[in-house]
Amino acid sequence: MFNNGWRKPSDVMANYLDRIGAGWILANPEVFDFDYIPQEMVGREDVQKELASKFATLHAPEGAGRAVITGPVGSGKTALARTFCRDIQRHLSNKRKIRSVHVNCRNASTSMRVVQRILHELAPGHPDRGLSMGELLMSLRRILRKETSHLIVVLDEVDHMLRRSGDDLLYQLLRIDEDQNGKGTLSLILVSQEQVLDVLETAVISRMGSTNHIRVKPYTVEGLEAIANQRATQGLVHGTWTTEILRLIAEKAAPTGDARRVIELLNAAVERCEFRQDEHSERRLAVEDIHVPLNNEPASQGSNLEHIDDLNSNAMLVLLALCRRLTKEESMTTGDVEQLYAVVCEEYEQKMKSHTTVWKYLKNFEERQIITSRVATITGGRGRTTHLSMPHYLPKDLASRLEMLLRKKF
Ligand SMILES: Nc1ncnc2c1ncn2[C@@H]1O[C@H](COP(=O)(O)OP(=O)(O)OP(=O)(O)O)[C@@H](O)[C@H]1O
Ligand SMILES: [Mg+2]
Repeated sequence: MFNNGWRKPSDVMANYLDRIGAGWILANPEVFDFDYIPQEMVGREDVQKELASKFATLHAPEGAGRAVITGPVGSGKTALARTFCRDIQRHLSNKRKIRSVHVNCRNASTSMRVVQRILHELAPGHPDRGLSMGELLMSLRRILRKETSHLIVVLDEVDHMLRRSGDDLLYQLLRIDEDQNGKGTLSLILVSQEQVLDVLETAVISRMGSTNHIRVKPYTVEGLEAIANQRATQGLVHGTWTTEILRLIAEKAAPTGDARRVIELLNAAVERCEFRQDEHSERRLAVEDIHVPLNNEPASQGSNLEHIDDLNSNAMLVLLALCRRLTKEESMTTGDVEQLYAVVCEEYEQKMKSHTTVWKYLKNFEERQIITSRVATITGGRGRTTHLSMPHYLPKDLASRLEMLLRKKF
């Protein structure tokens, strides 16, 4: 009699936790961890080769290398250095014992802390308290001698250390072999964002050898798409995503050229897609999933729907046609636009504008970053089609606003 509608607390608990581990979309969560190191760097063969060329003598007993890697945020500098150290150790495994230490100088921002970190990595039990810089460096030298291994030190975000402690440690490390019989004990890779290069400037780079300076470029939309593709292939359930949806995500991240952003957007889309799953939903990333606001989203992007309020009413009709299709599909062709525009004109009982005018509107939408266009060669080779997409707005929201504005006009 008390049992009507009553469930054991454990059932209730189990219910809201049902989703955990369900993994309808997400197969390997670790692929989206912030410190995940990809098996392969995609689309960066040129910089990888350039970096390897600075270490051309590393196989030889006395060989060592130096490199300074700079580039904008999220351009893959850290991943480049990490994968290089990992790969070179394997590559030379039967020629020379290579060890590497990757220190992020944001967390270890004085030269003392940096050397302590290096020692700690090489000899976890090594006491470092109370030791002077000279003593720490001597220990480092001793350990490397004893192990007869070559050490690659990566100082990531090195500008933090340079600002606090100057560049003295760099020279100490580069001179680690002095007064010894050996040579080539240590290689050094410095990594920094380009914007903070001032501290690194001239002195450091020239000491490291200006030919050893590798500049990494921001990612293009194709590069971002390839990275999204790699993460989706490794991290998601087969069949839950399409290349079109990844393209749209890449287009959304493109203004930043930042690989971290495209991965974040993909991850957020996956979370949102998992969240909305029930028995009836399609187990696939959809357009609406990619418009979840990110915590670190610049306020100017994404939700500023008023951006379209000053369009003239004919342009609004064209844009409405676009929005309606792009609510369901990731992209559409200019041919689709004309067809759907005709339908919208009929609905609002307006005369259609000419082909040229419609084309002018589309150009204008693109300039205002309401849409993005991409020219693709049709499979089979004949002709080229322009694909339009809307990476920075949720088409459904824009459509509602247009409908509201158009109601006032007609
Ligand atoms: N070519 C690539 N292939 C696969 N993954 C990549 C590639 N480039 C970057 N990534 C991934 O993108 C994310 C950002 O890259 P990374 O941390 O190397 O950027 P960064 O240039 O060091 O950025 P910051 O300036 O903020 O330190 C990482 O998760 C990294 O694994
Ligand atoms: Mg980095």
